[in-house]
Amino acid sequence: MTGDLFDAASMYDEDYLHFFVGPESGGAPSHGPVVGTAYTGATLAADLVRGLLGLEPGMAVLDLCCGHGALANELAARGCQVTGLDSSTVFLDRARADAVARKVEVDYVAGDMRALPDWDGRFDRVVNWTTAFGYFDDDGNRGVLDEIGRVLRPGGRLAMDLDNQVRFLSSYTPSRVTARRANGDMLVDRHHLDPLTGRFEVERTVVRDGQARTLSFLKRLFGFPELRDWLTAAGFTAVTAYGEDGAPLRADHHRMVVVAER
Ligand SMILES: C[S@@+](CC[C@H](N)C(=O)[O-])C[C@H]1O[C@@H](n2cnc3c(N)ncnc32)[C@H](O)[C@@H]1O
Repeated sequence: MTGDLFDAASMYDEDYLHFFVGPESGGAPSHGPVVGTAYTGATLAADLVRGLLGLEPGMAVLDLCCGHGALANELAARGCQVTGLDSSTVFLDRARADAVARKVEVDYVAGDMRALPDWDGRFDRVVNWTTAFGYFDDDGNRGVLDEIGRVLRPGGRLAMDLDNQVRFLSSYTPSRVTARRANGDMLVDRHHLDPLTGRFEVERTVVRDGQARTLSFLKRLFGFPELRDWLTAAGFTAVTAYGEDGAPLRADHHRMVVVAER
């Protein structure tokens, strides 16, 4: 397993839920590169996944990097046998509590996407949503694709929801206020693009209850042809890409949903 390029636990924590999840979260920022989801709520994302992956009740679905479980719980409500894996215990606790409240069953597992459990060929479908891929060096990122291929059954299918690089770069700003709450809490991000690595690096200041802390994170940006070639090298076939509306990927889509078959 390759080393961590940032501390995921300091990024995907209770502050993240405070600013991005729930009725007061305020949604995506109105300027700068759209970081995060283009789907309001999990219903639209689940509709898209169902359409693109031919989801049927009873299918075994892995939500890889499931976060706080919004999509996993929604897919379970639609009759899938869902497993959600994530490294954040804060998020998993929230996911489990929401599953109980919704009366759905999801097997939530703490783990690392680079080394999945002994699940060879277990899943009919894998979803990886809201730019939950590209956090490591390229060997590490490619290793994650190998792991996905290992846990999918032959003929199983994958959908990955990522930033659409073309649109993302066209709205690039060197900094921005990413989230702001009525009480003065805010997230302020300073951005750095490294064209040599394809990484979008962020230095974030979290202001909450008058206290400030900083953290950093990064993600790899992918054009479709590069990720298609990586997936093909990892043994996937029929690699295609769509936008957030399910139409074939265009430059003006915010999201790039890459679909592939094992
Ligand atoms: C941008 S969030 C997306 C979460 C979720 N898929 C969603 O749509 O809301 C990225 C997720 O990846 C998880 N993550 C980061 N590094 C991870 C790792 N090495 N293994 C598993 N999960 C990881 C984080 O905890 C976080 O939940």
